[in-house]
Amino acid sequence: MNRTLWHDTEGNSIQAHGGMILQHDGTYYWFGENKNGSTSVAPSGDIRVDFIGISCYSSSDLHDWKNEGLVLIASDDPSSDLYKDRVCERPKVIYNKKTNRFVMWMHIDTADYTAARAGVAVSDAPTGPFTYLCSMAPNCSDCRDLTVFQDTDDTAYLIHSSDWNKTLRISQLTDDYTGLTGVCTTAFIEQEREAPAVFFHEGLYYMITSGCTGWNPNSALYGISGNIQTGWKLIDNPCCGKDGRMTFYGQSTYVFQKDGIFYLMLDHWNPADLKTSGYSFLPIHIDGTALTITMED
Ligand code: GAL
Repeated sequence: MNRTLWHDTEGNSIQAHGGMILQHDGTYYWFGENKNGSTSVAPSGDIRVDFIGISCYSSSDLHDWKNEGLVLIASDDPSSDLYKDRVCERPKVIYNKKTNRFVMWMHIDTADYTAARAGVAVSDAPTGPFTYLCSMAPNCSDCRDLTVFQDTDDTAYLIHSSDWNKTLRISQLTDDYTGLTGVCTTAFIEQEREAPAVFFHEGLYYMITSGCTGWNPNSALYGISGNIQTGWKLIDNPCCGKDGRMTFYGQSTYVFQKDGIFYLMLDHWNPADLKTSGYSFLPIHIDGTALTITMED
């Protein structure tokens, strides 16, 4: 049921927060943060779970999810980006046809969220193991919430909050998707949007984002552009009905498509115990260029 914590085929809680769904060769793969540890308060005051790893679950129907285990695991080296006291959030995976590899981008940070970097890892299979390559400040900017988007011509982009979450940046990825070309543009300047989820439909790009209030819910907004790199305009809150102003007490993380319908994935964060945070997959109704999303099961 939407808004609740879901369980895998073995009856264990699905630990794939801040996640995404990749469809590959007829199987859906759900990647996300494993938060199955105790929630604590860092010296900075930030509420966190020590980094455990990135999970992967597979499914043929988006309903029954098999746990494929941790595909990227915390390191026991205190100098590593993946050490348990770091932040590793919002993993997003894309498949590169040319290299036949799966590339994962993620938000890498220190516990106080001041390092603000993008990390990248690669794997030969969606179920891992992913090899962590490095982290970077994309085009010399900070990077917190992020997504990746693969355009119709297979050019891919890292879309990330920057300038202390004030402005989103759209950074083009290299052909192998593991680096940046240096082509970088901005969207929603000074609008303080994060948790971007992007999709393309009938010639237009849509981006659903949240406001910046940490683990607490706020109003979603969607934007539209005819060009992934420029011309983004904020339109409205797509969420309607009860709790629509609070994104149904959730936060966007990704949009995936099944049978011609786009679905918004939400995290329903529980900052008192993050591992119990729930999920929703909600169909996006598109009327012309207007998006509406209601809470339904
Ligand atoms: C939110 C962000 C989450 C997490 C949280 C930490 O703004 O969307 O992914 O970073 O802050 O407080």
